[in-house]
Amino acid sequence: MASVRELTDPRPRSCWVEVDLEALEHNCREMQKQIPTGGEMLAVVKAEAYGHGAAMVSRTLSKLGVSYFGVATLEEALKLREFGIDDRLLIMGHTTTFNAEEMVRADLTPMIFSYRMLNALNEAGEKLNRKANIHLKIDTGMGRLGLRPEAVEDYIGELKKRAHVNLEGVATHFACAGEDESYTEQQRKEFLQVKKIIEATGVEPYYWHSSNSAAILSDNLVCEEDNLFRPGITLYGYPPNDKVKIPDLKPVMSLKSMLADYKKLPAGVGISYGRTFTPEEPTYIGVIPLGYADGYPREYSDLAYVLKGGQRKPVRGRVCMDMTVIELDEDDDPEEPVTLLGAEGGEELWAGKLAEWSDTITYEVLSRLSRRLPRVYRRKGELVAIKTERKVHLL
Ligand SMILES: Cc1ncc(COP(=O)(O)O)c(C=O)c1O
Repeated sequence: MASVRELTDPRPRSCWVEVDLEALEHNCREMQKQIPTGGEMLAVVKAEAYGHGAAMVSRTLSKLGVSYFGVATLEEALKLREFGIDDRLLIMGHTTTFNAEEMVRADLTPMIFSYRMLNALNEAGEKLNRKANIHLKIDTGMGRLGLRPEAVEDYIGELKKRAHVNLEGVATHFACAGEDESYTEQQRKEFLQVKKIIEATGVEPYYWHSSNSAAILSDNLVCEEDNLFRPGITLYGYPPNDKVKIPDLKPVMSLKSMLADYKKLPAGVGISYGRTFTPEEPTYIGVIPLGYADGYPREYSDLAYVLKGGQRKPVRGRVCMDMTVIELDEDDDPEEPVTLLGAEGGEELWAGKLAEWSDTITYEVLSRLSRRLPRVYRRKGELVAIKTERKVHLL
């Protein structure tokens, strides 16, 4: 029987995420066209750029004129700095006072809303003899993080007393952009009201921002007062929902694997834990060396399929932590890779389908692919870089 093939390039595992940098650049240009004249793009690269690898994504988009990047955590921001990204970095998620000094030192801009953080950043700025840049997060109706509009005036009053803090921007986040127009419009109006309140205090933040991909693409939503726009999912080639008009986007990520084993099982041998699939006939199987610890969830057991030679091959038995089994046909070539996400031989299998299988959204499918899967970056088919868990290798 034919055997499986070994890799002959520096990829550390025989399963990998492929990132198409040309597609990323294409999507970025498409989204830049949607941004009103004079507006800037803040590319959302949190959660390792939705699984694509934040360092290479930021490096690529920086060359297209994107000058601001949004992450969720301090560690994500510091990793980008370590890689040499010296553009503006906004930490959009929660930060703690304990890390205030580190943020100021690395010239990171946290999005804050508490007095505790305001004080900690002011102290850090004073100690380092510079101003701590902040964006103020307003909760206009997301019902999550942020200062409520009615608390803004007092907060700005306190902010003005702190000499080492610079209010660089003010932001809000829409809860259902593109899906509930009247609610979004109400949020937008509250944000405009906040703008008036802040301007009346004499403080002049440079950036005003509220729009994610869905808001940018909503026909009926015009955020003419904003000058910074925060797309995420569209940069990676997927629509935020099915209600907004979608520009020409190309999926950036594929997931591929060589087979770790290939064989013909005799009738009656069950496949994987629990023997949930036990064929009554002799059956060819291929073993894919990735599993739920790689972000290929257990819900796919006996449900999903992969592509091989442009044909669908079903997942058989339970998906394990590091292994998944598919059923093959006698004439399948075990030396050729399989595609778990992507296009092959005229067949397509994109994140929308994978999301359906585990009752979730494309965002989760992409971002949960674990760090232990190498990311292989290509431009026009040429290998450009490989990211392992430890390092990005530029080739
Ligand atoms: C504050 C904030 N802005 C923008 C985005 C980007 O959203 P999307 O990926 O839908 O464009 C996110 C993502 O969740 C976010 O949390």
